Amino acid sequence: MSDLNSFKKQALDELLDLLRIPSISTLPENKADVQRAADCVEAALKTAGMTRTEQIQRGTHPLVYGEWLGAAGKPTLLLYGHYDVQPADPLEEWKSPPFEPEIRDNNIYARGATDDKGQTWILIKAVEWLMRRDGRLPVNVRFLIEGEEEVGGEAIERYVSEKPAQLKADAAVICDSEMFAPGLPSICTGLRGIVYGELLVEAAKQDLHSGVYGGAAPNPIMAIAEILCALKDKDGHILIPGVYDRVVEPAPAEKEAWASLPFNEKEYLEKEIGATAITGEPGYSVFDKTWARPTLEVHGIRGGFVGDGAKTVIPARALAKISLRLVADQRPEEVINQLKAAIAKVTPKGVKAEYKHLHGAGPSLVNPDSPFIKESALAMEEVFGKKTVYIRSGGSIPIVGLFQTHLGMPSVLMGFGLPDDNLHSPNEKFHVPNFYNGIDAVIRYMERLGANA
Ligand code: BES
Ligand code: MN
Repeated sequence: MSDLNSFKKQALDELLDLLRIPSISTLPENKADVQRAADCVEAALKTAGMTRTEQIQRGTHPLVYGEWLGAAGKPTLLLYGHYDVQPADPLEEWKSPPFEPEIRDNNIYARGATDDKGQTWILIKAVEWLMRRDGRLPVNVRFLIEGEEEVGGEAIERYVSEKPAQLKADAAVICDSEMFAPGLPSICTGLRGIVYGELLVEAAKQDLHSGVYGGAAPNPIMAIAEILCALKDKDGHILIPGVYDRVVEPAPAEKEAWASLPFNEKEYLEKEIGATAITGEPGYSVFDKTWARPTLEVHGIRGGFVGDGAKTVIPARALAKISLRLVADQRPEEVINQLKAAIAKVTPKGVKAEYKHLHGAGPSLVNPDSPFIKESALAMEEVFGKKTVYIRSGGSIPIVGLFQTHLGMPSVLMGFGLPDDNLHSPNEKFHVPNFYNGIDAVIRYMERLGANA
């Protein structure tokens, strides 16, 4: 295949095959699917010309590694992505089934289309194209593609903290974030961390008649509501003692740069959020609230009677899935302890409340002055024809902080998702031109690094 355009079209077809695999890392019943996705990624790395590939087990799902190190004297990039995806529910809200990718209006609709199979595919296919065209690469590459990102990335964390020689690189390149707006090349310089777990509340020895015992017996769902309201107030302030102690304000220059981003709050509220009001801490901008401030959210509450119809019962137990997003310099271990202490303090009488920790990751900031980031910004400018903007994101990519602390290398977060791509939501999509431009941008990035470094 001699021309890049038909190569990119074929790359899109191959991506659809990967998107057909329901590699939902959090569901035990999908374990074999996650393995199939790992095999598919490893095969793609072989096709791309990696001289050695390997699957590495450090947890539930394998890491996929591949390397090509034939560019003596040139920099080495660690190319990171993840092949696991979030659950697809609520299924009835998808216009086409989440694992039957469909292209409509130049968008690929599927779970994982943007996050992160499509963006991982950009890295693999950019490398494959350069290998096909030149028989070699302008830089050395090591791929490390994980299968547990959406459940906290503990396997990759274990592996990276062993500091294996085969991860030695000058910078990590990650396509797993978003552009600030369509057509606007964006580099992400900060991610939030996370502390995620379950709040389990138990009361009576069994479910009780709510008429006979109501008014006297403790209600665990009410207790969850009380506890949650005692952990965060109506203004969005987290009430956990000590939780803000390490929060670092962004530098004035960074805030000024955010203020000049093209942003319309009304449109954000109507088109992206689709509710009637923006909530959160008074006096903070949307960027502050989502990029530079911690938050506490509840993801689901289980307990009692949730079927159709009516049942008059006081449940014996209930459970809430909760998380805090952390910002620099908050530390997950410390926040877990602060959270547990706060829960113990506000638990109403008659119930037992317990926080069961599921996963955590630190926040990360990268210095935009790194030459690896500057070259990336220039490569994207060439492809998109606009000046690259520096943004942060409220999401988490657990390994980014650890690449810095354990391997001493910066992460270059060149993202090609769009704000309305519906990550983690029904009808996730990936804009096909962003897939194609992403491949061009990564190709130009490697060419530039090979020529200038
Ligand atoms: N790609 C996202 C994170 C992201 C989203 C970064 C948008 C920048 C812009 C990533 O795959 C993700 O969703 N991570 C999870 C991690 C968590 C479960 C540990 C998240 O943030 O919820
Ligand atoms: Mn995700």
